[in-house]
Parts: sequence; C-alpha cells; structure tokens
Amino acid sequence: MKIVEVDHPLIRHKLGLMRQADLSTKHFRELAGEIAALLTYEATRDLETEDTEVEGWAGPVTVRRIKGRKITVVPILRAGLGMLPGVLDMIPAAKVSVVGLQRDETTHQPTTYYEKLTGRMDERTAMIVDPMLATAGTLIATVDMLKAAGCKRIKGLFLVAAPEGLDRVIATHPDIEIYTAAIDERLNENRYILPGLGDAGDRIFGTR
Ligand code: PRP
Ligand code: URA
Repeated sequence: MKIVEVDHPLIRHKLGLMRQADLSTKHFRELAGEIAALLTYEATRDLETEDTEVEGWAGPVTVRRIKGRKITVVPILRAGLGMLPGVLDMIPAAKVSVVGLQRDETTHQPTTYYEKLTGRMDERTAMIVDPMLATAGTLIATVDMLKAAGCKRIKGLFLVAAPEGLDRVIATHPDIEIYTAAIDERLNENRYILPGLGDAGDRIFGTR
C-alpha cells in the first residue's frame, strides 16, 4: 500500500496555520483549498500522458496530454467540499462524484446518506477528498462504494490522518493510495485526531 505524507515547506506552513484554534472560517477554508491543490499536484504525478499534435504559432507541434478516461474527484460531504475547489483548480475538467457520509458522534460509525457517481467508474481513477482520516470508517465505506461501482484505481487525499486509521486501511484496502499533508500522533477517546484540526466540517463551514 502506498501512503505518502507529502513533505513540502508550503504544506508544513499552511497546515501549521490551520492548527491555530482562533483562525477565522475564511482563512481555514482558504488554506484547506490551497493544501488540497498541493496534494493534487503530488497525487497526479504518475498520470499517464500521450503525444498529440496541435497547431502552434509556428506550425504543427507535438505536445503531451493526459491519456485515457480521466479522474473523478470524490468529495465526502460535507467537509470534503472544503478541499474540492483546490483540487478542481488543478484538474478543472474532472467529473465530480459526490458521496455523503456522517460519523455518529457516539458510536463513531459512518452512515451513508448520499451517493451520486459519474459514469464509467471502471475506466477512471477516483480521487477521494476529505480533510480527516480518523478511525477510517468513513474512508473504508467510501472505498467499498466505489469498488462496488467498478472502480479499480482509488486515491485518497487528506489534510490529517491518524496512525490507527491508516492501519485499518492497510488491513482492509491495501490497494489504495493515500496522500496526506500530515500523519498525526493518535486518536483521543472521542476518536478525534491529536493534535489534529478539531472538527474539520465545523471549521470549514463556520458551524458550532
Ligand atoms: C469527518 C471527516 C471524515 C470523518 C473521519 O466527517 O470529514 O469524513 O469525520 O472520521 P473517521 O475516519 O473516523 O470515519 P463528519 O462525519 O464529522 O461529517 P461532516 O463532514 O459532515 O462534518
Ligand atoms: N472528524 C473530524 O472532523 N476531526 C477529527 O479529528 C476526527 C473526525
């Protein structure tokens, strides 16, 4: 299984800003999008390209373009929406497959309440986006859903991941790739990531 903690000074700096409890909603949201764009750059490094000829200013020129049926971005409602603009800044033509999952505050188990996938999932790379990978229950349920739809290549982009959740993903779906801005220390008794960011959805949307 491929787990990449994307180590870049811009990501370290921006994530450091996000950890400040008194950061405004506006800034938290902006930084989530900016880090998402940087993670996308890293997660798309291995996309296949092919030659194509275009009419350039001085005549025909051979250029490279991304090969095959492309990516579908899969934001997990609701916090994943905070990363979507940054991902789409990098891949503007991507199809978006939205899924909605909510983690129960007591049992910490996710419930799926929405699923709208784009067509031909078997021919696409799915790029899940969600700020937090905590117990990994939400990610595992999403990957189950995508595989049931025929998806063969799945990547996940996160701002912060917990070691406990990563271990569960390794055991359950060892074929997926994870790109995260940080692997933090551990989960607390409420299954929140420490030091983490707190409730990412609340901070992105300004609720609570
Ligand atoms: C958060 C987060 C992930 C999930 C991670 O969403 O955005 O989707 O929890 O936890 P897990 O790895 O333990 O499953 P939440 O369920 O709070 O919903 P929200 O995005 O609507 O706030
Ligand atoms: N969901 C969050 O928003 N934050 C956590 O730390 C864990 C789950």
